[in-house]
Amino acid sequence: MIRQPATIVASAAYLPPNRVPNAHFEGYLDTSDAWIFERTGIKERRWADDTMSTSDMGLMAAQKALEKAGITPRDIDLLLVATMTPDQPLPSTAALIQSKLDGCKAPAMDISAACSGYLYGLSVAKAYIESGMYQNILLIGCEKMTQVVDPLDRSTVILFGDGAGASVIKAGGKGLRIDRIVLGLDGHLNHALFIPQSGKMKMLGQEIFKTAIQRGVETIEFLLHQEKIAIEEIDHLVFHQANLRIIQNIQKRFNVPSEKIPTSIDFTANTSAASIPILLESIPHQENQRYLSVAFGAGFTYAGAIFTSL
Ligand code: COA
Repeated sequence: MIRQPATIVASAAYLPPNRVPNAHFEGYLDTSDAWIFERTGIKERRWADDTMSTSDMGLMAAQKALEKAGITPRDIDLLLVATMTPDQPLPSTAALIQSKLDGCKAPAMDISAACSGYLYGLSVAKAYIESGMYQNILLIGCEKMTQVVDPLDRSTVILFGDGAGASVIKAGGKGLRIDRIVLGLDGHLNHALFIPQSGKMKMLGQEIFKTAIQRGVETIEFLLHQEKIAIEEIDHLVFHQANLRIIQNIQKRFNVPSEKIPTSIDFTANTSAASIPILLESIPHQENQRYLSVAFGAGFTYAGAIFTSL
């Protein structure tokens, strides 16, 4: 039996309405708008208020993605949620979202791979669809980063934002065919970015910065080699949005023009597992284009994917 290739048929984003400009931090931390913008490319981020949870944001993005895909919650065979900021330890955020998605009876689970979570989740969706087990998968990346960052730590609180992105992945159809996904993990670097059982996020910024560039470059080289294509044949380089300087360092190695690199870091900051589906929503669909996506995050996880638009 010929299996249909896993294809992202729709992506949608949700950002909470509260915009927090860099100037907000100048009031109580030893930092400045200029420092933050020059070192990271961030101008503002969105923060969810106390009434909005990770699952609420995930639900909003999911409903938009389902509508765009023209399917209902009843049609979903599997629900995956990539998050490092679950509403609570149990049940999973995926289970909470399933209960809020009217009519959805799908099995559901969380994926914990930090900022690589969306691409890790996409690899799970691809494997299930191409094995023939499921036809319609909803993958959500959603994060309430404000619940895990220390508001008084100037090196982390400025970097992160809240938000959600969701994709519907189907067997066949029009959209982004997932041609290849590669996953990786440097477990010896798990001390470089972590959240203790009780406490807030701790990060060795420079170590993460250097490793992100190194693994980002290697992941792109590996994918190009596997697909037997040149970087010039890529139309959109879709990076996880952590720091504009990380993106620019990788861009320089491959000499890719900026028009091929969509960014949202200036207005979203780092939304972890939500950042890639948020960006995917913003790219106008044109047939026969190639996308290369790269993500990295705590673990130290990294991942890359190549898509072709149909
Ligand atoms: N405002 C002003 N100064 C700050 C600051 C801020 N918000 N945050 C850190 N600094 C200070 C540091 O304390 C340090 O001061 P010191 O020299 O007195 O010790 C100085 O700036 C330089 O720190 P350094 O870590 O060398 O800065 P940097 O240029 O590497 O930028 C990060 C810091 C955090 C922006 C950068 O390392 C980074 O983005 N790393 C990757 C983080 C990331 O992406 N994490 C998520 C991965 S998915």
